[in-house]
Amino acid sequence: MTKQVIRTAVFPVAGRGTRFLPATKASPKEMLPVVDKPLIQYAVEEAVAAGARRLIFVTGASKRAIEDHFDKDAELEHLLDSQGKAELAELVRGVLPKDATCVYIRQPEPLGLGHAVLCAQPVVGDEPFFVHLADDLIDADLPCLKQMANVYKQKGGSVLGVEEVPRTDTDKYGIVETKGVSAKIARIHGIVEKPKPAVAPSNLAVVGRYVLTPRIFKHLEKIGQGAGGEIQLTDGIARLMREQSIYAYRFEGKRYDCGSKLGYLQATVEYGLNHNSLGASFREYLQALMAANPPAVAAPRVAARKSATRKKA
Ligand code: UTP
Repeated sequence: MTKQVIRTAVFPVAGRGTRFLPATKASPKEMLPVVDKPLIQYAVEEAVAAGARRLIFVTGASKRAIEDHFDKDAELEHLLDSQGKAELAELVRGVLPKDATCVYIRQPEPLGLGHAVLCAQPVVGDEPFFVHLADDLIDADLPCLKQMANVYKQKGGSVLGVEEVPRTDTDKYGIVETKGVSAKIARIHGIVEKPKPAVAPSNLAVVGRYVLTPRIFKHLEKIGQGAGGEIQLTDGIARLMREQSIYAYRFEGKRYDCGSKLGYLQATVEYGLNHNSLGASFREYLQALMAANPPAVAAPRVAARKSATRKKA
């Protein structure tokens, strides 16, 4: 297979984010901030670091804020400059690199991730591309998509970012079957969307990072509704696998499922602790908080001691 440079990233952002309602009623899940940046900006930074310069957002209802975020805001820049806040002005200007182009495509209805990716076809054309799901935030020394671009360079086929999940959670993910289960890069032989733990082929789950060859579109055009009544990217990949090699890649880094409230809180705490200017004071705050509210597991020991004292008296 010929290996082309990957210069396009697709960000499907047309889901309704129902797990975060009412926060996501009028504003996109992808605009939820982790400390001081919205999820979608972390996503764009990762894709840009991997070489993408054509950024395609597949948007839907209530997603205008994403367009506004990446648009130039001359008024705000001018205001910050006039107030002598040069650093903040630079921050606002730097939201998007100068050589990047944003394209917005509307998904008329949230029919599923596979359908969202298919909506990007007219702009992607006949080139390999990244798909990045912004609600999977991955903290890594080498950005995850960059790692995957390297795998694509080496192997030439589509690459799926995977990680092991608890067996009980297989019905939340696309699950792959590979030979060489523990290999860092393994060719996939099967993929199934949200299988029940008892029938899952493994516990190796696909997370929100993909390198896909354009041939995927031919398959996405043909598939119907799959798990949950949605047009599933996983089903398109299962068909693509019959004609091209596809690789599962165990990325290096830590993933936070920011589509769930718990994952989002975990990301917020850990990014807060690692933040350049806030980290130290946030750590102090958390330590004081923990000291004032010792973990519940300590409570029975205290209670036992108290009752022992009472008995003696
Ligand atoms: P999710 O199922 O995690 O997101 O889809 P959701 O539907 O927005 O969230 P919940 O489950 O209701 O809380 C994974 C990604 O695919 C996009 C979503 O925006 C998210 O980034 N997506 C999903 C689309 O763009 N279109 C769709 O039809 C479905």
